[in-house]
Amino acid sequence: MSLKPLLIFGKSGQVAQELAARAGQAGFSARMVGRDEADFTNPDSVALLAETADAQAVINAVAYTAVDQAESDEDTARRVNAETPGRLAETCARRDLPLIQISTDYVFDGTKSGAYLETDETGPASAYGRTKLAGEDAVAAAGGTHLIVRTAWVYSAHGKNFVKTMLRLGAERDELNVVADQTGCPTHAGDLAEGLLTATRSVLEGRGENGIYNLAGQGSTSWAGFADAIFDLAAPVWGRRPQVHPIPSSAYPVPAPRPKNSVLDCSRFANTFGFSCPSWEASLARVLDELAVTKRA
Ligand SMILES: NC(=O)c1ccc[n+]([C@@H]2O[C@H](COP(=O)([O-])OP(=O)(O)OC[C@H]3O[C@@H](n4cnc5c(N)ncnc54)[C@H](OP(=O)(O)O)[C@@H]3O)[C@@H](O)[C@H]2O)c1
Repeated sequence: MSLKPLLIFGKSGQVAQELAARAGQAGFSARMVGRDEADFTNPDSVALLAETADAQAVINAVAYTAVDQAESDEDTARRVNAETPGRLAETCARRDLPLIQISTDYVFDGTKSGAYLETDETGPASAYGRTKLAGEDAVAAAGGTHLIVRTAWVYSAHGKNFVKTMLRLGAERDELNVVADQTGCPTHAGDLAEGLLTATRSVLEGRGENGIYNLAGQGSTSWAGFADAIFDLAAPVWGRRPQVHPIPSSAYPVPAPRPKNSVLDCSRFANTFGFSCPSWEASLARVLDELAVTKRA
């Protein structure tokens, strides 16, 4: 087994932090790279680092994730989400390093009635979705060993995410309006990281075809259902439970359109790599426990 590290871009992000926390247990060492060392608005700086760094595989957990801001800054989002990952993929292909690129449910328009398969037609409705899809295409076009792992509704105990926002607002308010007509799979960044490391190991051992894979928390809910679950878990500690009022997306206007349906069918990942995320409810309970928001047994 190679003793070289995994080169992981996106050091400060939700997914990268969970990758760093779990790499050792998965039998890897990790070299975490932040914006200070490799700025994804500067493709040359990223390509240079990837050209020279000691590594056995590369995971790109960087993205321009400010979905609404991307609507008015698509050029920057495209550089970070597509152009630089493409350059990174070319470098990895030349060096024969497998590249794991993370992508998103926003590549879909969200109008399908069932869960999305990897083979379903894409049709991003937002700048973020368009640039992430362009990133998928650029990584595939580079021709190296690669996995593109689409995920959705990511949260963790760190960083900015829906769970942290609900906990902040719920601590201040007795009632909240939350969108109820978008459905997705809440995904704990730690579960995603475990799956990514499992898949990386498989690829290094020569198992797992190049291509697109879905990986998200099992089961699905709406944002309002997600908020209800958060408050159900927090209520015994808080001694009160904020009330969630379900509202339609039209009552919460935002610059970037969200897919109405973000549910991802993850069977290809499970069949190939033997890994599925736990149910979203079980992982949510673990993260709230980590945040000391639930009562410990
Ligand atoms: N969050 C979600 O709900 C979600 C859903 C579906 C897919 N995904 C995908 O999952 C992956 C990881 O997302 P995440 O939730 O971990 O995102 P995150 O917490 O927002 O982290 C994004 C990371 O990208 C870095 N970054 C942004 N612009 C950069 C630049 N110009 N140069 C270098 N680094 C830069 C950030 O660094 P700074 O801290 O320095 O800004 C941060 O480390 C991404 O590919 C994302 O598209 C996320």
